[in-house]
Amino acid sequence: MNKRKILITGGAGFIGSHVVRRFVRNYPNDHIINGDALTYAGNLENLSDVDGASNYFFEKLDITNIDAVREVFEKHEISDVIHLAAESHVDRSIEGPMEFVMSNVVGTVNLLNAAKEFWKSGEHIFHHVSTDEVYGSLGDDGLFTEETSYDPRSPYSASKASSDHFVRAYFHTYGLPVKISNCSNNYGSHHFPEKLIPLMIHNILNNKPLPIYGKGDNIRDWLWVEDHASAIDKIFSEGRLGEAYNVGGLNEWTNIELVRFLCRLMDEKLGRKSGESEKLITYVKDRAGHDKRYAIDATKLENELGWKPSITFEEGLSKTVDWYLDNSEWVNKVTSGSYKDYYENMYGNRT
Ligand code: NAD
Ligand code: DAU
Repeated sequence: MNKRKILITGGAGFIGSHVVRRFVRNYPNDHIINGDALTYAGNLENLSDVDGASNYFFEKLDITNIDAVREVFEKHEISDVIHLAAESHVDRSIEGPMEFVMSNVVGTVNLLNAAKEFWKSGEHIFHHVSTDEVYGSLGDDGLFTEETSYDPRSPYSASKASSDHFVRAYFHTYGLPVKISNCSNNYGSHHFPEKLIPLMIHNILNNKPLPIYGKGDNIRDWLWVEDHASAIDKIFSEGRLGEAYNVGGLNEWTNIELVRFLCRLMDEKLGRKSGESEKLITYVKDRAGHDKRYAIDATKLENELGWKPSITFEEGLSKTVDWYLDNSEWVNKVTSGSYKDYYENMYGNRT
């Protein structure tokens, strides 16, 4: 097989860094090009363990700039794309939707156009990494399947749904070889502490209030990030063109139960008295338009490609907490500067 030149967009972010690491190690004969704009969420230190590898390349790339996208395609003779670059935080999308339109919609269409322009012959794959939030919000029962109608309800999910539609449109209209994956909530190392789990770990460590939106009864389905990376690898390598695959952990938790569990785990690890961290729990004003429940049916991925999560939530969460305890420098770095302003703006008036 010819050497593949795989552009992974958003490779310096949370999930992207795990995908880049996996591909650099698993595919030493291919070139792995990480194209990332290095926004507040992108951090090249996430990849310090692979950045000396001979098959790894980094390009500072803003996908909203079509000329820059074309340059990277040309320079590296990109043969495949795994597209993760996006604005990813729902709360930020409520404060300012336009950046989400630019990176998630315009950025995706720029990449699709470049692929269409450069891929005139040969074998190629454009794998678009998306979210279960495109399906909307579930009641007490049921799971999202690949047939569930799209019903995005936040500016973030609306932008991701739009990008999914464009990816499908390029398959049907131009025959671009695309695949889509829609995944549930990820957790693990290198997760920016604006999201529930790393924010709670950070606040527990620093004895700060643990802000629970609304009643804490919203439900999410949590998956270890390295299992998401393995699912992306499976789908990219073996999934059918033009298909979407749901990825999830069959691991539903209400936010409040999850945070209580985390508090107990951290009390043990930190040698605190039992119940000490739970005292930090503070109910705050709810997120606008807060989706009640997400839950994924990943049967298609399991039956067709034999993928399953590799570890339990208990194991994954314990590993995750250990990573944050061992990497205080990483945390200090990402929580200095603009994070403080973000935190004040998001939580200052919430109680
Ligand atoms: P993240 O916010 O941690 O990282 C996003 C990365 O994209 C950063 O490195 C950032 O610098 C980069 N980026 C943003 N705008 C860019 C632009 N215009 N040009 C180039 N790079 C840009 O996000 P994440 O949580 O790792 O999510 C990655 C992808 O997976 C996103 O597409 C997201 O929608 C999807 N997803 C996330 C989850 C989750 O639980 N985090 C679940 C399902 C799907
Ligand atoms: O479902 C997949 C999606 O999961 C991804 O597409 C998104 O990129 C990712 O950010 C995530 O979205 P959520 O909105 O579900 O994740 P978040 O960590 O922001 O919130 C998880 C739940 O916790 C949600 O119900 C809101 C609640 N929450 C969150 C924060 C940050 C709180 O109660 N307090 C908080 O401080």
